[in-house]
This record gives sequence, C-alpha cells and structure tokens, in this order.
Amino acid sequence: MFRSPKCGAFTAALLMSISPVLIAGPLGIGAPATAEMIAGWDIDIRPDGQGLPPGAGSVADGEGLYEAQCASCHGLFGEGAGRWPVLAGGEGTLDTAHPEKTVGSYWPYASTLWDYIHRAMPYPAPQSLTDDEVYAITAYVLYLNDIVDDDFVLNQETFQEVKMPNEPNFYIDDRPDVVNTRCMANCADPALFEIVTTINGVTPTAHFKEDSGVAANHYGNESSGAESVKVALSDAAVAGESVHAKACNVCHGAGIAGAPVTGDAGAWTDRIAQGMSTLNKHAIEGYVGKNGVMPAKGGNMALSDDEVANAVAFMVESSQ
Ligand code: HEC
Ligand code: HEC
Repeated sequence: MFRSPKCGAFTAALLMSISPVLIAGPLGIGAPATAEMIAGWDIDIRPDGQGLPPGAGSVADGEGLYEAQCASCHGLFGEGAGRWPVLAGGEGTLDTAHPEKTVGSYWPYASTLWDYIHRAMPYPAPQSLTDDEVYAITAYVLYLNDIVDDDFVLNQETFQEVKMPNEPNFYIDDRPDVVNTRCMANCADPALFEIVTTINGVTPTAHFKEDSGVAANHYGNESSGAESVKVALSDAAVAGESVHAKACNVCHGAGIAGAPVTGDAGAWTDRIAQGMSTLNKHAIEGYVGKNGVMPAKGGNMALSDDEVANAVAFMVESSQ
C-alpha cells in the first residue's frame, strides 16, 4: 500500500506513461513493435545487395577514413597490427597447413563486409559510421584486397559488379540428412568406437581407453575401416603414447618438416627394417636423414631415454 501522496502520484504517472502500449493478450503485457523499432534491428545486407541503403563512397574517401578509424588495429594495409584481425592478403593459402582467412582470400560476398563494418566496426564505437562512410571504407578494404581499382565508387548499383575471388568455392551442402537408429540393446562397446580423422593427430585421442587399441588404429592406415583388426599395443607402446602426443606428434602427426607420419605404414616399412636399436638411437641422439632433421629427443631434452624409446615403440606398432 502506498501511503505517501508523492509516491501515489509517481505510480499514477508511471501507469499513464506506459498504459498506451498495454495490449490485451494472454498476459496483457507487451506491445507490437513499431515499424521504426523494427528498422533499428533490420539492418542485414544480403549477398545480392538487398538491404543496402542509398548512398555512395569512393576508395579515395575510404582511405582517409580507414587510416583514421581502422588502421590502428587492422594495419595501414589490412595486415593487422599485433594480433588484431588481418583484413587483406592470404590469397592461395586456404588449402595449406596455415590458411589465412581474410576478406579477400576467404569471404564469399562483399555484402558481409558492408554489413560487418556497419554493424560492428570500429570496434570501440559500433554503428557510429554514416552509410556513406561505410560505403567508402568498404570500397577501400576491397581495394586493399585488389578486388576493385583505385577509382572505384561503391553504391547500390556498382555493388553488383564486385566479385569476391573465393565465392566459387562456396556451395550448398545438399547431402541428405543421416537418420541413425538409436541402439537400445546389445550395442557395441563404446571403448571400441573408432574416431577417424582426415588429418592425423589433430583429433585428440587422450580420452580413448588405454588398452583398447583404438588410438593405435585411429592413426589409421589403409586397412582401417569397419572390419579392421584392432591393434593391441605392447606395454611400452601404451606408455609411449602420451610421450608421443606431447613431444613427437607435433611433427610426426601430420608429417611436418619431412617427418614420417605415425600410422602411415608405407613411410615406416624401410625405417622399421633398420631394427629397433637404430630407430631408438636416432630418436634419442637425433640425426639428419634424407627427408629432414630429426632433433635429439624431438627437441625435448627433459625426456628420459626410456620415454623416447617408448614413444618409438608406439610409433612403430601404430605404423605396421
Ligand atoms: C580497437 C581495435 C579495432 C578497430 C579500431 C577496428 N576494428 Fe575491426 N575488428 C577488431 C576486432 C577485435 C575484430 C574481431 C571481432 C570478433 O571476431 O568478434 C574485428 C573484426 C573486423 C572485421 C572482420 C574480420 C574477419 O575476418 O572476421 C572487419 C572486416 C573489420 N574488423 C573492419 C574494421 C573497419 C573497417 C574498421 C574501421 C571503421 C575497424 N574494423 C576498426 C578490432 C578493431
Ligand atoms: C621437429 C620435428 C620432429 C619432432 C618434434 C620429432 N621428430 Fe622424429 N623425425 C623428424 C624427421 C624430419 C624425421 C625424418 C628424418 C629423415 O629420415 O630424413 C624423423 C624421424 C624419426 C624416426 C625414424 C628414424 C629412422 O631412422 O628412420 C623416429 C623413430 C623418430 N623420428 C622418433 C621421434 C620421437 C620418438 C619423437 C618424440 C620424442 C620425435 N621423433 C619427434 C622430425 C621430428
């Protein structure tokens, strides 16, 4: 109960001020959003340019705006200052081990660039740019990526001329949904489930049960598959698996610097034929072979000789 007349007046004022928007409905609260309210949120730009507002901006105008508002983080040429995101460059890197995804190398549609800058940049003051400024800065970032010339002016019409280099590599994934039936009785032992990856060593294997042989099989050779035989690892190899994961996999997982890939039987046949003592010696002392340099203990001198030998056992047993 409000006793104070002041408070009562306040409540009345409050009720009056919100009453025009009260609506009927199951709860009697809320209000339909007005067109104006919706417009504030409805700012997405579609790949075909739908949603772009009227306006225009040139590469030349964009240069000064970019240097003043964006370069401190993204670099004068879009190269990224420090660890801030890189906006330009990276062409031809997508199918390498270190893809550099930038506006030019990766993004399929220029609409995303307009939308993103308009919506979220500059980072400290999102949505502070006018539409013309967004056009100009977008044009300039496209120019930094060699997608438009220095005399380009971006507007609703010229937007249609912009073709992003990586667009053809995007496609609709039309594979059908997979409908798996849930197993309710006599199901397979989860310990024997096999996780197969296309890049050896990238999927973590630490969660596999130690003696299930799954990890060894995971490093899969040609024969891996539904009917493949699970490899049973020796005690030394089981002990070596974690050493391998922490000290050897960085090179031997994906074949970095010429290292034979663990699990690739073809790469190991001749090596295994040298005998374990040679392999252990090479692993412990290091050596220079015809494919590259194997650093002593993989460069991790804190490992004992036994630990390295265990890792070698793991590699060998997983690779035959
Ligand atoms: C204070 C630093 C800062 C400034 C200034 C800044 N940005 Fe950014 N920018 C960022 C950060 C951080 C991200 C990543 C945000 C995220 O991933 O959530 C980003 C992301 C971007 C991206 C997406 C990059 C990608 O590949 O995902 C674009 C494009 C971009 N900024 C453009 C601009 C433009 C244009 C300006 C100037 C109007 C600007 N930024 C100003 C920090 C900044
Ligand atoms: C910096 C990369 C790197 C790391 C880390 C590394 N290796 Fe190697 N390893 C190589 C390269 C390269 C070769 C192949 C050299 C050649 O034969 O040309 C190799 C070859 C080997 C061989 C085959 C030797 C032979 O005679 O054929 C064994 C065994 C081996 N490494 C064990 C290990 C073990 C165990 C570890 C972890 C303790 C490890 N490596 C870590 C790069 C590495």
